[in-house]
Amino acid sequence: MRTHYKNKKRNWKETVLAPRKIIAGNWKMNGLTQDNLSLAAAISPSSHPQVDVIIAPAMPYLSQCALAKPDGVYLAGQDCSPHSHGAHTGDASAQMLADNGCSHVIIGHSERRQDHSESNGLIRAKMRAARDAKLIPILCVGETEKEREMGRAQKVVEDQLTESMVEGCTPENMIIAYEPVWAIGTGRTANANDIRAMHHFIRDFLIWPLADGAQMSILYGGSMKPSNAEEILSIENVDGGLIGGASLDAQSFNTIIQAAIAAAK
Ligand code: PGA
Repeated sequence: MRTHYKNKKRNWKETVLAPRKIIAGNWKMNGLTQDNLSLAAAISPSSHPQVDVIIAPAMPYLSQCALAKPDGVYLAGQDCSPHSHGAHTGDASAQMLADNGCSHVIIGHSERRQDHSESNGLIRAKMRAARDAKLIPILCVGETEKEREMGRAQKVVEDQLTESMVEGCTPENMIIAYEPVWAIGTGRTANANDIRAMHHFIRDFLIWPLADGAQMSILYGGSMKPSNAEEILSIENVDGGLIGGASLDAQSFNTIIQAAIAAAK
């Protein structure tokens, strides 16, 4: 795939259509029934045709949140099995997520890479499973602090993309989230120059003829909140955010959605 991409590389600045802006809330393992239903009901759907809003509650609450959320807010799983069905205790298939109202699924989040030793190969298998179930994967990539200090951030992200993307990716069937691991849940955001450089790097990587990489949405994640959303969303090639902590508060999350709508205008 990488060879293919290298051979057919072209200039993304030639393309005119902007990627969709996406604000996705990753609720992680938080909230019980009442909290989650109230939170889902309080999310503002996007009022802009180029901006999508997604929430990713914990697995047991997906079907209830599917009913509680307003129309126009999309639902995502936080992970899926690489298998379609069978003897895989504790796992849920991509098809099960779709059956419970999901249109998207987060794949390769750094917490799963760390807590469950997920490799790029496994993540690739999950990408395939999501594709087969017609779910849109939000593929998470990002370097650790040590990797950044060693000057390896771009190489790490390049390897993650190369080893986990599947053939036939298009802006309609895939979203990428760049999340520097050291910025997740720490209150520390990457600085604007580093975000700009990495998103530019990912954009360059994505340019291939099978999928118009210039139009694929690349989200930033890592301590995005109302106070920094406007600045981060104004950076070139940042097409939205994957938001953890701040997505657990409806007012904060809705403020970030408004920032994305303003950035899309
Ligand atoms: P955070 O999490 O916004 O709490 O840093 C982001 C994420 O893990 O997706």
